[in-house]
Order: sequence, then structure tokens, then C-alpha cells
Amino acid sequence: MKTILVINGPNINMLGIREPEIYGDKSYKDLLVFIDKAAEEAGVELKCFQSNCEGEIVDRIQQAYGKIDGIIINPAAYTHTSIAIPDALKAVGIPAIEVHLSDISKREDYRKHSFTSEACKQTIMGKGFEGYKEAIGYLK
Ligand code: DQA
Repeated sequence: MKTILVINGPNINMLGIREPEIYGDKSYKDLLVFIDKAAEEAGVELKCFQSNCEGEIVDRIQQAYGKIDGIIINPAAYTHTSIAIPDALKAVGIPAIEVHLSDISKREDYRKHSFTSEACKQTIMGKGFEGYKEAIGYLK
């Protein structure tokens, strides 16, 4: 069975509380339940990780080397600032999909550029939780 690692970045643990008009009223726990179900339906094993710290995300990507078949990553605000995260994704060479709950192309100018996308096979945005399901299907 293939194993997929889902990585969520800063403030994704605050879903349901943070800016519900943008991110919806479902919690991070609801997201985990949703992704688990999608993984079960797709017949893949799932590991989930969330951190508010860039270095911890880099560490988790490095730990995936040789153990994980695909990565789904929502780097949250680090999307627009981090070079270390795409560097880590390139270093391990694991196929990765970038997911954003909101459509970052239609928001503030500073959100329009993603450093992560150059290290990912595809970017899915603006589809809420469904984006993660689509990413599981793509990786499978
Ligand atoms: C986000 C979009 C980012 O710009 C923002 O910083 C987030 C969440 C999204 O899922 O829509 O924290 O990645």
C-alpha cells in the first residue's frame, strides 16, 4: 500500500476559528477526519503532520525520504516566504502536491506568489477540504 504524508503549516490548526469567512467553519480535526476518509476510499495509507514552525516542516520532509511515496503540502503562510521548504521537497525528490483551501490567486498581492509550487507537480487551490481529496487522487 502506498503511503501519503499530508503536511499542514502555520495556523491550519486554527481552522474553524480563524477567518471563517475565508477558511470555513470546520475545524482542523474535521479536516483530519475528511482526509482520513478520502485516503481510506482511495486505498492509501495516510500520515498527517501540522506545525507552526518552518524548521519542523523541513525536518518532517527530510524524515519522509525513503519512507513516503507522496506528499500533500499546505505550507500556509510559508508558501509565500519559505525557500527552505521547496528546497527540502526537491532534496527528497518525493512527488508533492501543493494545496490551498482558499484561492491565493484572487487574494492579496503578497499571496499570489508561491515559492513551493516550483517543487510540486501540481497546485490545487480554492476548493477547501476537497482540494486534499483531489490531491490524494492525483498522487494515487
Ligand atoms: C492558505 C493560504 C495562505 O496564504 C495563508 O497564509 C494560509 C492558508 C490556504 O490554505 O488557503 O494560512 O495556505
